[in-house]
Amino acid sequence: MTIQEEILQCKQQKDAIILAHYYVRPEIQEIADYVGDSFYLSQVATQLKEKVIVFCGVSFMGESAKILNPEKTVLMPDLSADCPMAHMADAKTILEMRQKYDDLAVVCYINSDATLKELSDVCVTSSNAVKIVKALPQKNIYFIPDRNLAHFIAQKVPEKNFIFHAGYCPIHDSMQVSEIMAQKAEHPNAKILAHPECTQNVLEIADYVGSTSGIIQFAKQDDADEFIICTEEGVTYALEQDNPTKKFFYPKTTPVCIDMKKISLEKILHVLRTGEGEIQIEHPFRERAKKPLEKMLQLGIES
Ligand code: 13P
Ligand code: SF4
Repeated sequence: MTIQEEILQCKQQKDAIILAHYYVRPEIQEIADYVGDSFYLSQVATQLKEKVIVFCGVSFMGESAKILNPEKTVLMPDLSADCPMAHMADAKTILEMRQKYDDLAVVCYINSDATLKELSDVCVTSSNAVKIVKALPQKNIYFIPDRNLAHFIAQKVPEKNFIFHAGYCPIHDSMQVSEIMAQKAEHPNAKILAHPECTQNVLEIADYVGSTSGIIQFAKQDDADEFIICTEEGVTYALEQDNPTKKFFYPKTTPVCIDMKKISLEKILHVLRTGEGEIQIEHPFRERAKKPLEKMLQLGIES
């Protein structure tokens, strides 16, 4: 039996389903039941009938799935797969901001750990942040933790007063305009597609800015044959599946999220067999962290 067949068999025996983010290795995306961006996966997680969710991504994603589905078992193939940005805000500053500003909404990028979600009014992802911030009644928006996404949203929603935090994604934030332009020089017809976690300088030279699924959708619908992709290179799997004749390039230093790459087929099989890697979040903390996630899902659909 191949490892893929063993995973399939074990998945059926345990009544499990596999969710995977676009940044994990191609062989994982290939066997996953659902592949998507953070928002899509958090929506899917609320609609599953299976008892066990194996979440192939980083810890804030598995945590969110557990918070939204306390009755389900959520397994992470590698509990050390973590997003550094998810810990780049802090409770003390959130409380200070709440004292300093009236009419404040604490808006928490979903790439945050549960202790930050608990203290926030609403969560957002890169695919719904503009819509949700626009729909909030508050004038003042303290956006945690990502400064780049916050600046991108602030430009789109000028009627709000943004208070920025200094968090960032080490992978997206380190992409260099010079390295992107070096690719552009070699492929002058290529369109530049960027994730809003990139710096302002990169976003300024982009033809399109959007979440990972936004980038994948744009590449599929656009007439261009070549694209320079300014996000994590795991999206290549979906891009090439959707567009077998189009060409995709990356900044010269290929953006790779080492935490996403920790997930392997062997680790998936191991947690399915043993039940190790379970996410545990205690009640009532879990209920408090659930509110901003539920508000995101509600506003993401309604507004
Ligand atoms: P998406 O919201 O586009 O899935 O991005 C998640 C992420 O981790 C980006 O680095
Ligand atoms: Fe976090 Fe960046 Fe990795 Fe996304 S790519 S999970 S933001 S470190």
